[in-house]
Amino acid sequence: MITFNGVTKRYADGTVAVDNLSLEVPTGEITVFVGPSGCGKTTSLRMINRMIDASEGQILLDGVDVKTIDPPTLRRGIGYVIQQAGLFPHRKIVDNVATVPVLLGWDKKKARDRAMELLERVGLDLKMADRYPFQLSGGQQQRVGVARALAADPPVLLMDEPFSAVDPIVRTSLQEELLRLQAELNKTIVFVTHDIDEAVKLGDRVAVLRVGGHLAQLDDPATLLARPADDFVREFLGRDRGIRRLSFVSDEGVRLRTDLLVPVSADTASARAIGEPWLAVVDEEKRPLGWAAVKDLPESGTLADAELAPYGTFVSGRDSLRAALDATLLSPSGNAVAVDGAGRAVGAATREALDEALTKVTGSVGIAESAGDAESDGGPARGAGSTGSTDGPARGADGVAGGVDG
Ligand SMILES: Nc1ncnc2c1ncn2[C@@H]1O[C@H](COP(=O)(O)OP(=O)(O)OP(=O)(O)O)[C@@H](O)[C@H]1O
Ligand SMILES: [Mg+2]
Repeated sequence: MITFNGVTKRYADGTVAVDNLSLEVPTGEITVFVGPSGCGKTTSLRMINRMIDASEGQILLDGVDVKTIDPPTLRRGIGYVIQQAGLFPHRKIVDNVATVPVLLGWDKKKARDRAMELLERVGLDLKMADRYPFQLSGGQQQRVGVARALAADPPVLLMDEPFSAVDPIVRTSLQEELLRLQAELNKTIVFVTHDIDEAVKLGDRVAVLRVGGHLAQLDDPATLLARPADDFVREFLGRDRGIRRLSFVSDEGVRLRTDLLVPVSADTASARAIGEPWLAVVDEEKRPLGWAAVKDLPESGTLADAELAPYGTFVSGRDSLRAALDATLLSPSGNAVAVDGAGRAVGAATREALDEALTKVTGSVGIAESAGDAESDGGPARGAGSTGSTDGPARGADGVAGGVDG
């Protein structure tokens, strides 16, 4: 755990970059510092590994004041990743990653093996190992930066806007890679960004700072989105707060209907007899094929003869309410298909079912976001965005088509 205890940083010219900051960064979690430019994020981060010394207050690493630890020793246990990776331009990728192990006196082969293992782990083609940094894309360099920071297996990682310089698609994949790595490694991570979407996606907890280095709010992302502490935080969170918050609410409250699932082998007469306007047609393995509009069904034959419209899916019990809602918006039926981890349909979520689930959520926020009582949403799919809603391939309809992820 890292503890900030009344930490203030006053630069030589009198600038107060961080003002009486007190907070805890729990072990094994990602804590994000977010806030506008100049609010003291980098200063706060660098005081942890003593690249900058605090003017007042203490920073404790597992209870030990960092001021009592000499900086080289301190930094051996703290990986550091910065924007644009900061790789050594004249060293090959593998040697960049092996830097700290070599400094620690590992033998060359062991350091190199470790570097190769890490390059693979962060998702880089091992062919890159013998290249120089300028021969890699920005996103690839950033992955090397992460690998280098992890090389000596430090318990703590400090990341200062590590993904800011890459395009949005690469950025998303780097974020997902970090979450995947963190699920295996459980590092104590302090991650700095000025991007609130990145903050709520990555953070177990998010510290919002305002200029002058004041802590405006420290909360988990769902609470932050539901109950911003003041106007500054509310404004900083930006638009679509309500929708974004649904990313942190489990889909488990959505009532599923199995009577709307019909096998493709069913005849159209029995399908009509169900008395519903839309039916989700599934194959022998219960994989969704599309929605059939009952009024357009052929007089005779089976559902294999029906025109099928596109469908959206969400993974039942794993995805967020946002993913479920998104899936309903991808179907002309207005309903979503709930699938299991293997992509088999387990039920259909109607708009009414979504509406009921959403009502529970708004009820739990009590709309008035200043209300102080704790909320009890189910464990959500982590991360912003719709994690599993995908467009199903649809026969007889153009437009949305893609694969169901499993
Ligand atoms: N060496 C320095 N001397 C004087 N003032 C400084 C120094 N370094 C930073 N500052 C000031 O301290 C404040 C906080 O800077 P810091 O770099 O911590 O901000 P930041 O939140 O990381 O900003 P950004 O998002 O732009 O990276 C700013 O007003 C900055 O100008
Ligand atoms: Mg900064």
